[in-house]
This record gives sequence, C-alpha cells and structure tokens, in this order.
Amino acid sequence: MATIRVRNTNEVIEGEAAVRAFLTANDVYYDHWDVSVIPAPLQNKYDLTDAEKEEILASLKGYIEDLSAKRGYVKWDLISLSDTTPNIEELLQKFEQVHTHTEDEVRAIASGSGIFVIKGNDGYFDVILEAGDVISVPEGNPHFFTLTDERKVVAVRLFIDPAGWVAHPFYDPAFQKA
Ligand SMILES: [Fe+2]
Repeated sequence: MATIRVRNTNEVIEGEAAVRAFLTANDVYYDHWDVSVIPAPLQNKYDLTDAEKEEILASLKGYIEDLSAKRGYVKWDLISLSDTTPNIEELLQKFEQVHTHTEDEVRAIASGSGIFVIKGNDGYFDVILEAGDVISVPEGNPHFFTLTDERKVVAVRLFIDPAGWVAHPFYDPAFQKA
C-alpha cells in the first residue's frame, strides 16, 4: 500500500482510504494489483533476462489488458533498476529532474519499491510505492521518479504513444529537493 509524504508540511498519509482520497483530490490515479500472480522465482528478482521480463508481463496480462482497455494504453514493457543496473547513477540523475509528459505516466510496481514526487494542489508530495501499487501521474503534471533506500524496483510501464517515454524538462523554482 502506498504512503504519502507532503513536502511542505512533512505530513504523512497512510491507510488505503486516506491515500486514495488524497490522490483522487490531486487527480492521481491509484490502484493495487495482486503481484503474487508473478511466478515465485521471479518475485524480488532484479537481474532479469528478456525472457523473464516477458514471463512477468504474461503473468500480469489480465491486469494490463484491463487497464489498457480503460485508459487507452497500446504498449507496455517492464523495467528493472537496482545496483546491478549498468549506469544506475546516471539513470537516476536523469530521472530525478522535474519534468512533464504529453500523456499520463503509469507505473505498476512488480517488485521492490519506488517514489513518485508529484506537484499537487499544495506543493510537491512523495508517493512511496511498494509491490502491487499502480499509479498514474496526469498528462502535463510536473513530477519525477526515484528509488527508495533499498534501491531496487521492477515496474510495468504502459504508454498511449507507441514512441514510449519522452520527458519535457519543467523548471520550477518552487521545487525543493529533500
Ligand atoms: Fe515522468
């Protein structure tokens, strides 16, 4: 279950009802998948071959197809990030810049954890995600993604535009790094 930390006030929001209410008020889509459908040897595995990635996507096919039918995604893939990822520092630096997209950015956490930092109605807030959490940042909404202290995640990405992930930098003097 996701947890929220509001950067301006350090308020922490926990518990399904409160988290859903906060995210809905900020136009952020949230859902939860049962990731125990992923074959056990591939749960919490971060060094994945292409075949293993396909196997994980196949196990989540029902969820992926339902969400795509509802929200218009035409393409999906699986990304894995951990300390064994080549250029992990470079990748994180690239991700940790506030930016926007011309479509919503949806991620379903298959293993590990991650943080979306999102510009909301009253400043930035962090959504700390764990396995099973599904989130979508609205089109055009400033945000970025980073890892938690465990520094590992496997996530499904879904796209409306077949071109995939295209970021537009968003310079925001009001943003403060925590
Ligand atoms: Fe993004």
